[in-house]
Amino acid sequence: MLDDVEAVVLVGGKGTRLRPLTLSAPKPMLPTAGVPFLAHLLSRIRAAGVRRVVLGTSYLAETFSAYFGDGAALGLELRYVVEDQPLGTGGGIRNVAEHLTAADVLVFNGDVLCGTDLGAVVGTHRRTAADVTLHLVRVQDPRAYGCVPTDADGRVLDFLEKTDDPPTDQINAGCYVFRRSVIDTIPQGRPVSVERETFPGLLAAGARVSGHVDNAYWRDMGTPADLIHGSADLVRGVAPSAALPGPTGEVMLLEGAKIAEGALVFGGTTVGRGVQIGAGARIEGAMLFDGAAVDEGAIIEHAVIGAGARVGQGASVVDTVVGDRAVVGAQCELRGGLRLWPDVILPPHGVRFSPDV
Ligand code: GTP
Repeated sequence: MLDDVEAVVLVGGKGTRLRPLTLSAPKPMLPTAGVPFLAHLLSRIRAAGVRRVVLGTSYLAETFSAYFGDGAALGLELRYVVEDQPLGTGGGIRNVAEHLTAADVLVFNGDVLCGTDLGAVVGTHRRTAADVTLHLVRVQDPRAYGCVPTDADGRVLDFLEKTDDPPTDQINAGCYVFRRSVIDTIPQGRPVSVERETFPGLLAAGARVSGHVDNAYWRDMGTPADLIHGSADLVRGVAPSAALPGPTGEVMLLEGAKIAEGALVFGGTTVGRGVQIGAGARIEGAMLFDGAAVDEGAIIEHAVIGAGARVGQGASVVDTVVGDRAVVGAQCELRGGLRLWPDVILPPHGVRFSPDV
């Protein structure tokens, strides 16, 4: 148990919009399998035995604290530290240093869903007497990421930019163990990137930077499609979490939700509180936020239906984010990464892809 380790969770950054375009909660607070996304990460930190967590953020700390409070409901002692300006990942870690007392500190990118064994990551850190240890996950297609080669002793050799021909399938999974004293060497009060500045600097200075390599479940929540697939993985139990509000399976049904007979709901769909689904609807791998409604015969695949939104009779909504309270009129067809703004009303037959008949 990691009861002598503290954790830092980073959320924010300069590219962060204060609000996502189509949904009313900030991304780390979007309901994912029935609870805010961050709850899954925090629950896994707690399950590993860590109690003290600092949320280092450059924005909207009050939104996080309004929900998680002092962390007691999760069994955590949770504190919030807000940056005056976005300080980047390294700067964000340095900015919370005065709140840390443990010798080893686990640091998490707040937008990653991951199933790694945190005890094993810390174990590698201690066994190799490392200054910093990175969780490196092996992915099928590493071309979309920078990669991190290691030697036979698990020592990190380099941090390589994205390339079409990566020399290894190991990528930075966004979870680190820092020796506390290393955090104090990060420059204070200015933006610092761990990947571009801190880690390469440590390598150049001859520090021991270890890699803990595994094949754990891993998904970065960068895009709506990632969020949708990650949510479905949580509902089906493919991605581990200790924060799920119900049993895993094809559907996560929250209080007051009603699915009419003859409707088909599967693929890790979350059906939010009070959602109504009409007969003959077919819903696969979707996120239906609280109070949404799906009329008879509608088809929804890998989509987010915002809180209070409505999908009309026979409409088809695929790979789309429908904003809160928006209305997709009967027989409309939405797809291909489309985002429908909150409160927009599409009239029946208002958008089609299939030919007129
Ligand atoms: P840098 O390494 O700092 O350049 O950031 P990056 O672009 O590599 O990081 P990325 O945008 O992938 O974000 C990684 C994680 O750090 C995410 O969970 C972000 O929410 C968080 N993050 C990014 N920038 C900041 C920041 O300025 N402050 C804080 N507190 N968190 C950040």
